[in-house]
Order: sequence, then C-alpha cells, then structure tokens
Amino acid sequence: MKVKPITTIKTVVETIEQGGTDIKVFSLVDPDRWELPPFRPGAHIDLHLPGGMVRTYSLCNDPADNKRYLVAVKRERGGRGGSVKLHDEIKVGDTIGVTLPRGGLKLDGDLTHHVFVAGGIGVTPFLSAAAFLQRSGRPDFRLHLMVRGEPPLKAMLAPLMKTGHVVVHDTTRSGRPDVASLVGLPSPGVSVACCGPESMLDDFEQATRDWPGQRVHIERFVPPALPVDRNARPYTLALSRSKLEMRVDPGQTMLAALVSLGIDIPASCCGGICGSCKVDWLEGAPVHRDRVLSPAERARSLMVCVAGSAEDRLVLDL
Ligand code: FES
Repeated sequence: MKVKPITTIKTVVETIEQGGTDIKVFSLVDPDRWELPPFRPGAHIDLHLPGGMVRTYSLCNDPADNKRYLVAVKRERGGRGGSVKLHDEIKVGDTIGVTLPRGGLKLDGDLTHHVFVAGGIGVTPFLSAAAFLQRSGRPDFRLHLMVRGEPPLKAMLAPLMKTGHVVVHDTTRSGRPDVASLVGLPSPGVSVACCGPESMLDDFEQATRDWPGQRVHIERFVPPALPVDRNARPYTLALSRSKLEMRVDPGQTMLAALVSLGIDIPASCCGGICGSCKVDWLEGAPVHRDRVLSPAERARSLMVCVAGSAEDRLVLDL
C-alpha cells in the first residue's frame, strides 16, 4: 500500500521583485486569490519546483498578510540548483506546489524582548517576526544583521533600520562582532534566535549554551555534515499501518529505505534541518541526529533523512 503524500497547495507566482544583488523575492498566491493556510512568524515552506526538486525557504512576510507567501531567494551558484532554477526559469504566472507552512518562531507568551542575530539572507525569518511583533504592539526586539557590504532586502529593512530595531554590521568595515556580546546573558522574558552561515550558528550555539532551550531558536539553511557512525548495525524498519517491513543496512538512510518500499515521503534538505520528512514512531529507540526537533517532539517523531535505530527493530506510524 502506498502512503498518501502530504498535500501540497497549488500557488501561482504573482510577482517577482529584485531584493538586492542576486536576490529575488517571489510572491506566491492562491490561483483564485483565496486566503492561504496560516503560518507562524518565520515559518518555512517547501517549494516543489519543475524537475522534482524540493527546496525549503523561510516566509518573510507578516503572518497577517494571509493572501500570499513571500520568499526571498539568493542565487547560490555553488548550491544544489534550486535557487538557480528559481532565478533563471521561474516566471510570473508559473504554478508552484508548496507544502503547508511549518516551524517558525514562538514569540508570544511571557516573552518581553527578542534578540535576533542574522547573517546575510538569513534575515528572512526575522522580517516576518519583526512585522508580527510590530503589528501586535510588542515591538521590543533588536535584530543584528551581519553583511558583507550592502544589506539584502534593503527596501524591507529600511523602516526597521530607521526605528533602530535593526542594526547592520558591515563585516568588511568593522569585522564580525562577537555574537556572545550581542546575545548577552540569559535574562527572564528574553528570547534569542539566529539564522546565518554555519560559523555564525556555531558561535551562537556556544554563546547560548546556558540559556533555557525553549528561549533559543536556530534556523539552519545548510545541513551540518553527519559524523560517520562506526557502530551502526542493520535494523528492521516496520510500518504499522502499511504492514510492511524491511532491513535497513548501515550507511542506508531510513528515507532511502522508505522510498525503496514505494513510500512517498516529502524531503527537501536531506540533512535533518528543514523538517519536511517528519514521521511519527511507535516502538523502538530512534537515534535522532536532526537539528530541528525539540526533545518533546522527539518523544513522538523523527526525521527519516537522518534518524537511525539503536535497537534491532523500529516501528513507524506509516
Ligand atoms: S528532508 Fe529536511 S529534515 Fe529530512
């Protein structure tokens, strides 16, 4: 039996605007201009591109702006090809399937101040967060944006720079500021979040190691390299609803095993950071390895692109 894939929504490219050097901003709308499914500030969606490519991007518009999904895409020449395809092939009027928005920042509750640290195009989730916070009357945040030269998405950033909510650090002039001093020490009601290149995220992780986990948020757009597991053993992967079983060999991913069984699983980053391949597990002892699920979520779910099994048998809710 084939498991029904997660539904994608059909959207149409309404506008494409230049957001700076090598950056295009795509506005995706419902073909009949209906409202789109809601999203949290800085949530992300997978774009299903021609040729079967699936790529994940953060939404950068206000969640209240519910008639469009806005994504800013930097053309990465050395990337995996998704951004180049979007830049070179996608035109206004094209149809693009997108998944339901997932993830994003939790900015409500008893939080009173937010510190965002971004590198370059990593600013996108915080533009959505800034719009949300300003609209909800709680504009107590500071976004530190590190750039080399011109900031991306200047038109969207300009009002926030004027009010002092955004501080741009041009690293070609002053070097990179110390992330630990931008973040400060843990204090009640303050949350911190970071999105940028790997070295910045490493500094941020180091700087926030004493912060309560629920007040720290990291957005990655490049999966970290997975260490080789020299102790990996084969295990049996059982699917409770499909009544299928298969052996997964060391070095084989659970995702590859599922695909070989004919199971459709949405996947984008294939490195445990985007959240698109999440599946619930029922029995066994998963080895998680992803960088996206919280401890509470791991009690129930795993990411099949990177997860393994510590026991001989693992049962998934598929
Ligand atoms: S495909 Fe991105 S987390 Fe698995």
